Amino acid sequence: MRILFATSEARPLIKTGGLADVSGALPAALREIGIDCRLLLPGYPAVLAGVGEAKAVATLAGLPGGTVATLLEAAMPDNGVPLYILDVPELFQREGGPYQDVAGHDHADNALRFAVFSKAAARLAGADSPLDWHPEILHCNDWQTGLAPAYLRLAGHGTPSVMTVHNLAYQGIFPPSDLGTVELPPESFAVDGVEYYGNLSFLKAGLYYAHRLTTVSPTYAEEIRHPALGMGMQGLLGSRGDDLVGILNGIDTGEWNPSSDLYLPYEYSSRAPSGKKRCKLKLQQDLNLEPGKDTPLFGVIARLANQKGLDLILAVAEGILHRGGQIALLGTGEKALEAAFRDLGAQHPGRVAAVIGYDEGLSHRIEAGADIFLMPSRFEPCGLNQLYSLRYGTVPIVHATGGLKDTVEDGVTGFVFHEPTAHALWLAVDRALHAYADGKAWQRMMRAGMTRDFSWEKSARAYAALYRRLLEKP
Ligand code: ADP
Ligand code: GLC
Repeated sequence: MRILFATSEARPLIKTGGLADVSGALPAALREIGIDCRLLLPGYPAVLAGVGEAKAVATLAGLPGGTVATLLEAAMPDNGVPLYILDVPELFQREGGPYQDVAGHDHADNALRFAVFSKAAARLAGADSPLDWHPEILHCNDWQTGLAPAYLRLAGHGTPSVMTVHNLAYQGIFPPSDLGTVELPPESFAVDGVEYYGNLSFLKAGLYYAHRLTTVSPTYAEEIRHPALGMGMQGLLGSRGDDLVGILNGIDTGEWNPSSDLYLPYEYSSRAPSGKKRCKLKLQQDLNLEPGKDTPLFGVIARLANQKGLDLILAVAEGILHRGGQIALLGTGEKALEAAFRDLGAQHPGRVAAVIGYDEGLSHRIEAGADIFLMPSRFEPCGLNQLYSLRYGTVPIVHATGGLKDTVEDGVTGFVFHEPTAHALWLAVDRALHAYADGKAWQRMMRAGMTRDFSWEKSARAYAALYRRLLEKP
């Protein structure tokens, strides 16, 4: 089976969130079970620099805006997954992140950039591809690739497509005037098409035109059919019935393994856990927290966005400190949240460390050094940090939503609370502190989490089954 996996991020080349973790690992897991899955990424500077050698294999002309792209062939640097890079220097080789400039503003031409990327994906999956390799299915991810299923279908190409929603909150919304920019026919600007409350939505295009829809946990697949978390797409998603399924993400168990993690000062495992305490003492030292191997240390790693429920953490922080706890936070994002956590750190030197920034090594060291992980997300399509926490013996406290609900077992591997309120979070923190004080109970929970299997293999098999059904019955 041949699958083209189009995505705008894939670690270790380019990452802003969990989408990169998934795109970096799932294609390799699919290849492990015999599926010829290849990646398509935009030619961001980090991608071009990270792959080393890349060979030009085709020119794609006639993309939106008259854009001409060079298609490069390379391989992922860590796992060798075949990679196509869409090289368009004027669109993708610029400073800042994949979607925003250095000042944090969206690039003004994002509609064109990702229309070009989507159109190229559709071209490579269609009958007029210049490549010898012809994918049987185009697998798209999030709004950046949402137009691809529309282009494929409107051009009458038979190749089926799968659209995976990693987060329904990011929809790629542009004014109706951009319909011309992306070169879609006027009649597609309709409720049965790419129109979304008077605007153009790239994600809506994918959700409407793709043959199958997936999201990254069973609970989120159910939640987004209803108004509370459907973000205005619930009508469409509800009407697609069995075309929408939830497949839980896995984690890269090679990268996230406390017994071989090169970012950690000490190794440990569920059978030999003593290195974890040493990781904690070293983390306290590195972050200028008061040393104390029995101090309950709460870790937080997140994009600082409303989704993640960080205001709830701010609301219970004093309570945690009052009970003798410490907090280590790593995150970047909304300025107001960055300032609030910086202030909290300044008010409680030695008790709260708030590191504002993006630091992969530190994210591993917090997962290893913390005792408890806080993840009170208002919604969470899957969530990866609670999975890393389980594997690292860091007992997670999570809100019962999306993938958090599907992966953390209350009282067994973590603590689950049901209302996204500070009070409900506090009751869960209180339960965790009582369990922490009972050393034996805590060891049991840590071990239970560390021995759960969240490797990619199971998820890859679920995607393979979905591909197979789709080819049998498009
Ligand atoms: P989301 O994709 O919504 O941000 P996930 O939990 O799925 O949430 O994935 C987030 C990923 O990004 C994880 O791999 C996490 O470790 C990483 N991450 C988030 N913020 C930071 C940060 N400030 N520094 C390092 N890694 C981070
Ligand atoms: C998104 C979601 C997160 C999920 C990730 C990977 O960014 O917010 O919950 O784990 O995508 O699928």
